[in-house]
Amino acid sequence: MNATINLEKKHIPVLLDELISIISPLYGGTFIDCTFGQGGYSKRILSNKNNRVVALDRDPETLIEAKKLLKKFKGRFRFENEKFSNINQLKISDHNLKAIIFDLGYSTSQITDLKKGLSFNSKGKLNMKLGKNFFSADDVINKMSYENLNKVFKFFGDEQKSKIIARNIIKKRLKKKILSEDLVNIIESVKKKYSKINKSTKVYQSLRILVNNEVSQLIFGLINSFKLLPVGGILAVVTFHSLEDRIVKFFFKNYSDEKKSSRYLPELKENKKIFKIINKKPITPSSQEIKLNPSSRSAKLRCVQKIYNHNNFDEFLKKFEYLLKIEEFADQL
Ligand SMILES: C[S@@+](CC[C@H](N)C(=O)[O-])C[C@H]1O[C@@H](n2cnc3c(N)ncnc32)[C@H](O)[C@@H]1O
Repeated sequence: MNATINLEKKHIPVLLDELISIISPLYGGTFIDCTFGQGGYSKRILSNKNNRVVALDRDPETLIEAKKLLKKFKGRFRFENEKFSNINQLKISDHNLKAIIFDLGYSTSQITDLKKGLSFNSKGKLNMKLGKNFFSADDVINKMSYENLNKVFKFFGDEQKSKIIARNIIKKRLKKKILSEDLVNIIESVKKKYSKINKSTKVYQSLRILVNNEVSQLIFGLINSFKLLPVGGILAVVTFHSLEDRIVKFFFKNYSDEKKSSRYLPELKENKKIFKIINKKPITPSSQEIKLNPSSRSAKLRCVQKIYNHNNFDEFLKKFEYLLKIEEFADQL
Protein backbone atom coordinates (compact mmCIF):
# COMPACT_ATOMS: atom_id res chain seq x y z
CA MET A 1 0.00 0.00 0.00
CA ASN A 2 1.36 3.40 -0.98
CA ALA A 3 1.96 5.37 2.23
CA THR A 4 1.48 8.73 0.51
CA ILE A 5 -1.98 7.70 -0.60
CA ASN A 6 -3.19 5.68 2.33
CA LEU A 7 -1.57 7.15 5.43
CA GLU A 8 -4.08 5.70 7.91
CA LYS A 9 -3.88 2.20 6.46
CA LYS A 10 -7.62 2.35 5.95
CA HIS A 11 -9.08 -0.27 3.69
CA ILE A 12 -9.95 1.03 0.23
CA PRO A 13 -12.86 -0.97 -1.22
CA VAL A 14 -11.82 -2.78 -4.39
CA LEU A 15 -13.82 -2.66 -7.68
CA LEU A 16 -16.58 -0.81 -5.83
CA ASP A 17 -18.01 1.12 -8.80
CA GLU A 18 -17.93 -1.97 -11.00
CA LEU A 19 -19.74 -4.05 -8.38
CA ILE A 20 -22.35 -1.36 -7.74
CA SER A 21 -23.00 -0.92 -11.45
CA ILE A 22 -23.86 -4.63 -11.68
CA ILE A 23 -26.19 -4.76 -8.69
CA SER A 24 -27.64 -1.24 -8.99
CA PRO A 25 -30.41 -2.10 -11.46
CA LEU A 26 -31.69 -4.18 -8.59
CA TYR A 27 -31.72 -1.29 -6.13
CA GLY A 28 -34.51 -1.30 -3.63
CA GLY A 29 -34.22 -4.46 -1.60
CA THR A 30 -31.96 -6.43 0.69
CA PHE A 31 -28.30 -7.17 -0.01
CA ILE A 32 -26.06 -9.53 1.94
CA ASP A 33 -22.46 -8.38 2.35
CA CYS A 34 -20.69 -11.59 3.39
CA THR A 35 -17.36 -9.87 4.06
CA PHE A 36 -18.15 -6.61 5.87
CA GLY A 37 -14.51 -5.63 6.67
CA GLN A 38 -14.42 -1.86 7.04
CA GLY A 39 -17.92 -1.62 5.54
CA GLY A 40 -16.93 -0.07 2.21
CA TYR A 41 -19.46 -2.05 0.16
CA SER A 42 -22.23 -1.91 2.80
CA LYS A 43 -21.98 1.88 3.14
CA ARG A 44 -22.29 2.44 -0.60
CA ILE A 45 -25.33 0.15 -0.88
CA LEU A 46 -26.96 1.81 2.13
CA SER A 47 -26.47 5.25 0.58
CA ASN A 48 -29.66 4.41 -1.34
CA LYS A 49 -32.52 4.82 1.16
CA ASN A 50 -34.51 1.96 -0.36
CA ASN A 51 -31.84 -0.59 0.45
CA ARG A 52 -31.18 -2.79 3.43
CA VAL A 53 -27.97 -4.68 4.18
CA VAL A 54 -27.30 -7.78 6.23
CA ALA A 55 -23.53 -7.95 6.80
CA LEU A 56 -21.33 -10.74 8.14
CA ASP A 57 -17.73 -10.90 9.17
CA ARG A 58 -15.88 -13.56 11.13
CA ASP A 59 -13.48 -11.03 12.69
CA PRO A 60 -15.03 -9.65 15.92
CA GLU A 61 -12.98 -6.45 15.51
CA THR A 62 -15.13 -5.44 12.52
CA LEU A 63 -17.91 -4.83 15.05
CA ILE A 64 -16.34 -1.42 15.82
CA GLU A 65 -17.20 -0.16 12.32
CA ALA A 66 -20.44 -2.13 12.18
CA LYS A 67 -21.69 -0.33 15.33
CA LYS A 68 -21.33 3.02 13.53
CA LEU A 69 -23.50 1.76 10.68
CA LEU A 70 -26.05 0.29 13.08
CA LYS A 71 -26.48 3.80 14.50
CA LYS A 72 -26.40 5.68 11.20
CA PHE A 73 -28.65 3.35 9.20
CA LYS A 74 -31.04 2.30 11.98
CA GLY A 75 -33.50 -0.36 10.83
CA ARG A 76 -31.77 -0.84 7.47
CA PHE A 77 -28.55 -2.50 8.64
CA ARG A 78 -27.95 -5.75 10.49
CA PHE A 79 -24.58 -7.25 11.44
CA GLU A 80 -23.61 -10.79 12.42
CA ASN A 81 -20.16 -11.84 13.68
CA GLU A 82 -20.38 -15.08 11.75
CA LYS A 83 -18.57 -17.12 9.11
CA PHE A 84 -20.15 -16.89 5.69
CA SER A 85 -20.33 -20.66 5.27
CA ASN A 86 -23.14 -20.43 7.86
CA ILE A 87 -25.11 -17.91 5.82
CA ASN A 88 -28.04 -20.31 5.53
CA GLN A 89 -28.42 -20.31 9.33
CA LEU A 90 -29.20 -16.60 9.40
CA LYS A 91 -32.88 -16.07 9.79
CA ILE A 92 -33.59 -13.96 6.75
CA SER A 93 -37.30 -13.83 6.14
CA ASP A 94 -36.92 -11.04 3.59
CA HIS A 95 -38.33 -12.03 0.23
CA ASN A 96 -36.76 -9.04 -1.44
CA LEU A 97 -33.19 -10.40 -1.32
CA LYS A 98 -31.45 -8.99 -4.40
CA ALA A 99 -27.79 -9.95 -4.20
CA ILE A 100 -25.16 -11.72 -2.10
CA ILE A 101 -21.67 -10.27 -2.25
CA PHE A 102 -18.25 -11.63 -1.28
CA ASP A 103 -15.02 -9.60 -1.20
CA LEU A 104 -12.63 -12.36 -0.19
CA GLY A 105 -9.37 -12.14 1.69
CA TYR A 106 -8.35 -9.56 4.23
CA SER A 107 -8.74 -5.85 4.76
CA THR A 108 -5.71 -3.58 4.98
CA SER A 109 -6.26 -3.07 8.70
CA GLN A 110 -6.12 -6.84 9.28
CA ILE A 111 -2.91 -7.27 7.26
CA THR A 112 -1.20 -4.35 9.01
CA ASP A 113 -2.34 -5.53 12.49
CA LEU A 114 0.85 -7.38 13.42
CA LYS A 115 -0.78 -9.23 16.33
CA LYS A 116 -3.01 -11.07 13.86
CA GLY A 117 0.23 -12.29 12.28
CA LEU A 118 -1.16 -12.45 8.75
CA SER A 119 1.94 -10.84 7.29
CA PHE A 120 5.55 -11.96 7.07
CA ASN A 121 6.42 -8.65 8.77
CA SER A 122 4.95 -9.97 12.02
CA LYS A 123 7.28 -11.05 14.81
CA GLY A 124 6.97 -13.63 17.57
CA LYS A 125 4.43 -16.41 17.89
CA LEU A 126 2.71 -17.30 14.63
CA ASN A 127 -1.04 -16.70 14.60
CA MET A 128 -3.14 -15.89 11.45
CA LYS A 129 -6.48 -16.55 13.19
CA LEU A 130 -9.12 -14.17 11.86
CA GLY A 131 -11.82 -15.08 14.36
CA LYS A 132 -13.87 -18.22 15.08
CA ASN A 133 -10.86 -20.50 14.52
CA PHE A 134 -9.83 -23.66 16.30
CA PHE A 135 -6.07 -23.65 15.65
CA SER A 136 -3.35 -21.20 14.63
CA ALA A 137 -0.36 -21.05 12.28
CA ASP A 138 1.77 -21.72 15.37
CA ASP A 139 0.08 -25.15 15.75
CA VAL A 140 0.60 -25.88 12.06
CA ILE A 141 4.28 -24.94 11.84
CA ASN A 142 5.26 -26.45 15.20
CA LYS A 143 3.15 -29.65 15.11
CA MET A 144 2.21 -30.72 11.57
CA SER A 145 4.05 -33.64 9.92
CA TYR A 146 6.55 -33.13 7.10
CA GLU A 147 4.26 -34.79 4.52
CA ASN A 148 1.31 -32.61 5.41
CA LEU A 149 3.30 -29.36 5.58
CA ASN A 150 4.68 -30.11 2.12
CA LYS A 151 1.16 -30.55 0.73
CA VAL A 152 -0.15 -27.40 2.40
CA PHE A 153 2.66 -25.27 0.92
CA LYS A 154 2.36 -26.95 -2.48
CA PHE A 155 -1.42 -27.00 -2.98
CA PHE A 156 -2.49 -23.93 -1.00
CA GLY A 157 0.53 -21.76 -1.84
CA ASP A 158 1.79 -23.17 -5.14
CA GLU A 159 5.22 -23.08 -3.48
CA GLN A 160 7.79 -24.90 -5.63
CA LYS A 161 10.25 -25.32 -2.76
CA SER A 162 7.59 -26.87 -0.51
CA LYS A 163 9.58 -30.03 0.26
CA ILE A 164 12.80 -28.41 1.36
CA ILE A 165 11.01 -25.71 3.34
CA ALA A 166 8.96 -28.39 5.15
CA ARG A 167 12.12 -30.41 5.83
CA ASN A 168 13.96 -27.41 7.25
CA ILE A 169 11.01 -26.57 9.48
CA ILE A 170 11.08 -30.06 10.98
CA LYS A 171 14.87 -29.82 11.57
CA LYS A 172 14.65 -26.38 13.15
CA ARG A 173 11.76 -27.18 15.49
CA LEU A 174 13.72 -30.05 17.06
CA LYS A 175 15.89 -27.33 18.57
CA LYS A 176 13.38 -24.54 19.26
CA LYS A 177 9.82 -23.40 18.76
CA ILE A 178 9.50 -21.67 15.39
CA LEU A 179 8.41 -18.03 15.50
CA SER A 180 7.33 -15.87 12.57
CA GLU A 181 10.83 -14.43 12.05
CA ASP A 182 12.33 -17.98 12.11
CA LEU A 183 9.90 -19.08 9.42
CA VAL A 184 10.88 -16.13 7.22
CA ASN A 185 14.58 -17.00 7.75
CA ILE A 186 13.97 -20.65 6.82
CA ILE A 187 12.18 -19.64 3.62
CA GLU A 188 14.82 -17.06 2.67
CA SER A 189 17.67 -19.52 3.26
CA VAL A 190 16.02 -21.89 0.76
CA LYS A 191 14.87 -19.37 -1.85
CA LYS A 192 18.04 -17.57 -2.82
CA LYS A 193 17.11 -16.50 -6.37
CA TYR A 194 15.67 -13.04 -7.08
CA SER A 195 11.89 -13.01 -6.90
CA LYS A 196 9.43 -10.25 -7.85
CA ILE A 197 7.19 -11.06 -4.90
CA ASN A 198 8.41 -11.42 -1.33
CA LYS A 199 9.93 -14.91 -0.91
CA SER A 200 7.62 -15.67 2.02
CA THR A 201 4.39 -14.70 0.23
CA LYS A 202 3.41 -18.19 -0.92
CA VAL A 203 4.07 -20.00 2.36
CA TYR A 204 2.24 -17.30 4.35
CA GLN A 205 -0.67 -17.45 1.90
CA SER A 206 -0.91 -21.23 2.28
CA LEU A 207 -0.97 -20.92 6.08
CA ARG A 208 -3.69 -18.26 6.00
CA ILE A 209 -5.78 -20.48 3.73
CA LEU A 210 -5.37 -23.46 6.06
CA VAL A 211 -5.83 -21.66 9.39
CA ASN A 212 -8.98 -19.88 8.22
CA ASN A 213 -10.39 -22.89 6.31
CA GLU A 214 -10.64 -20.66 3.28
CA VAL A 215 -11.36 -23.52 0.88
CA SER A 216 -14.33 -24.99 2.74
CA GLN A 217 -15.52 -21.52 3.73
CA LEU A 218 -15.67 -20.53 0.07
CA ILE A 219 -17.17 -23.77 -1.24
CA PHE A 220 -19.93 -23.92 1.38
CA GLY A 221 -20.33 -20.14 1.36
CA LEU A 222 -21.15 -20.32 -2.36
CA ILE A 223 -23.44 -23.34 -2.09
CA ASN A 224 -25.36 -21.97 0.90
CA SER A 225 -25.64 -18.50 -0.65
CA PHE A 226 -27.08 -20.07 -3.76
CA LYS A 227 -29.71 -21.86 -1.66
CA LEU A 228 -30.70 -18.63 0.09
CA LEU A 229 -30.84 -16.50 -3.05
CA PRO A 230 -34.18 -16.30 -4.87
CA VAL A 231 -34.32 -16.87 -8.63
CA GLY A 232 -33.31 -13.57 -10.29
CA GLY A 233 -30.85 -12.70 -7.49
CA ILE A 234 -27.18 -11.93 -8.12
CA LEU A 235 -24.12 -13.62 -6.67
CA ALA A 236 -20.97 -11.48 -6.95
CA VAL A 237 -17.50 -12.51 -5.80
CA VAL A 238 -14.20 -10.63 -5.73
CA THR A 239 -11.21 -13.01 -5.49
CA PHE A 240 -7.57 -12.21 -4.82
CA HIS A 241 -5.61 -15.39 -5.52
CA SER A 242 -5.73 -18.08 -8.17
CA LEU A 243 -6.93 -20.84 -5.85
CA GLU A 244 -10.08 -18.99 -4.79
CA ASP A 245 -10.67 -17.72 -8.33
CA ARG A 246 -10.48 -21.28 -9.66
CA ILE A 247 -13.17 -22.39 -7.21
CA VAL A 248 -15.51 -19.48 -8.04
CA LYS A 249 -14.93 -19.82 -11.80
CA PHE A 250 -15.72 -23.54 -11.75
CA PHE A 251 -18.86 -23.06 -9.65
CA PHE A 252 -20.22 -20.35 -11.93
CA LYS A 253 -19.23 -21.88 -15.27
CA ASN A 254 -20.06 -25.48 -14.50
CA TYR A 255 -23.63 -24.66 -13.56
CA SER A 256 -24.22 -21.98 -16.16
CA ASP A 257 -25.27 -21.54 -19.76
CA GLU A 258 -21.54 -21.38 -20.54
CA LYS A 259 -21.16 -25.09 -19.84
CA LYS A 260 -21.01 -27.00 -23.10
CA SER A 261 -22.47 -30.46 -22.94
CA SER A 262 -21.62 -32.90 -25.73
CA ARG A 263 -23.86 -32.57 -28.79
CA TYR A 264 -23.94 -36.37 -29.03
CA LEU A 265 -25.44 -36.81 -25.59
CA PRO A 266 -28.94 -36.01 -24.47
CA GLU A 267 -29.04 -33.06 -22.08
CA LEU A 268 -28.52 -34.49 -18.61
CA LYS A 269 -30.87 -33.56 -15.83
CA GLU A 270 -27.90 -32.93 -13.53
CA ASN A 271 -26.60 -30.45 -16.05
CA LYS A 272 -29.35 -28.00 -15.23
CA LYS A 273 -28.26 -24.47 -15.88
CA ILE A 274 -28.76 -22.58 -12.70
CA PHE A 275 -26.76 -19.43 -13.46
CA LYS A 276 -26.67 -16.83 -16.16
CA ILE A 277 -23.13 -15.47 -16.33
CA ILE A 278 -23.20 -11.67 -16.18
CA ASN A 279 -19.59 -10.98 -17.15
CA LYS A 280 -17.95 -13.66 -19.32
CA LYS A 281 -14.45 -12.41 -18.45
CA PRO A 282 -13.69 -11.43 -14.86
CA ILE A 283 -13.72 -7.68 -14.22
CA THR A 284 -10.32 -6.43 -13.07
CA PRO A 285 -9.23 -3.06 -11.63
CA SER A 286 -8.27 -0.25 -13.99
CA SER A 287 -4.65 0.93 -14.05
CA GLN A 288 -5.87 4.03 -12.23
CA GLU A 289 -7.35 1.96 -9.39
CA ILE A 290 -4.16 -0.11 -9.14
CA LYS A 291 -2.09 3.08 -8.93
CA LEU A 292 -4.28 4.41 -6.14
CA ASN A 293 -4.55 1.08 -4.36
CA PRO A 294 -1.79 -1.41 -5.31
CA SER A 295 -3.41 -4.10 -3.14
CA SER A 296 -6.21 -4.27 -5.70
CA ARG A 297 -3.91 -5.51 -8.49
CA SER A 298 -4.85 -9.20 -8.29
CA ALA A 299 -8.60 -8.66 -7.78
CA LYS A 300 -11.12 -10.36 -10.09
CA LEU A 301 -14.86 -9.80 -9.96
CA ARG A 302 -17.17 -12.57 -11.20
CA CYS A 303 -20.97 -12.23 -11.19
CA VAL A 304 -23.88 -14.51 -12.02
CA GLN A 305 -27.64 -14.33 -11.83
CA LYS A 306 -29.55 -17.29 -10.40
CA ILE A 307 -32.01 -18.58 -12.96
CA TYR A 308 -33.05 -21.94 -11.54
CA ASN A 309 -33.25 -23.80 -8.23
CA HIS A 310 -31.01 -26.80 -7.74
CA ASN A 311 -29.85 -28.99 -4.90
CA ASN A 312 -27.09 -31.26 -6.08
CA PHE A 313 -23.55 -29.91 -5.95
CA ASP A 314 -21.69 -33.24 -5.94
CA GLU A 315 -19.69 -32.37 -9.07
CA PHE A 316 -18.45 -29.15 -7.46
CA LEU A 317 -17.54 -30.95 -4.22
CA LYS A 318 -15.80 -33.78 -6.09
CA LYS A 319 -13.74 -31.34 -8.15
CA PHE A 320 -12.21 -29.76 -5.03
CA GLU A 321 -12.27 -32.79 -2.75
CA TYR A 322 -8.45 -32.97 -2.81
CA LEU A 323 -8.26 -29.46 -1.31
CA LEU A 324 -10.90 -30.20 1.33
CA LYS A 325 -8.83 -33.27 2.33
CA ILE A 326 -5.77 -31.06 2.90
CA GLU A 327 -7.84 -28.86 5.23
CA GLU A 328 -8.63 -31.97 7.24
CA PHE A 329 -4.90 -32.40 8.09
CA ALA A 330 -5.54 -29.81 10.78
CA ASP A 331 -7.83 -32.27 12.62
CA GLN A 332 -4.68 -34.16 13.65
CA LEU A 333 -3.08 -31.15 15.36
C1 LIG B 1 -11.26 -7.76 1.83
S1 LIG B 1 -12.08 -7.62 3.34
C2 LIG B 1 -13.63 -6.90 2.90
C3 LIG B 1 -13.57 -5.43 2.76
C4 LIG B 1 -14.92 -4.77 2.55
N1 LIG B 1 -15.52 -5.13 1.28
C5 LIG B 1 -14.78 -3.27 2.62
O1 LIG B 1 -15.02 -2.59 1.62
O2 LIG B 1 -14.43 -2.75 3.68
C6 LIG B 1 -12.55 -9.25 3.68
C7 LIG B 1 -13.28 -9.45 5.00
O3 LIG B 1 -13.85 -10.75 4.97
C8 LIG B 1 -13.77 -11.33 6.25
N2 LIG B 1 -13.82 -12.77 6.07
C9 LIG B 1 -12.88 -13.57 5.50
N3 LIG B 1 -13.31 -14.83 5.51
C10 LIG B 1 -14.55 -14.84 6.07
C11 LIG B 1 -15.51 -15.86 6.35
N4 LIG B 1 -15.26 -17.12 6.03
N5 LIG B 1 -16.67 -15.51 6.92
C12 LIG B 1 -16.92 -14.20 7.24
N6 LIG B 1 -16.05 -13.20 7.02
C13 LIG B 1 -14.87 -13.51 6.43
C14 LIG B 1 -12.46 -10.82 6.80
O4 LIG B 1 -12.47 -10.86 8.21
C15 LIG B 1 -12.40 -9.40 6.23
O5 LIG B 1 -12.89 -8.49 7.16
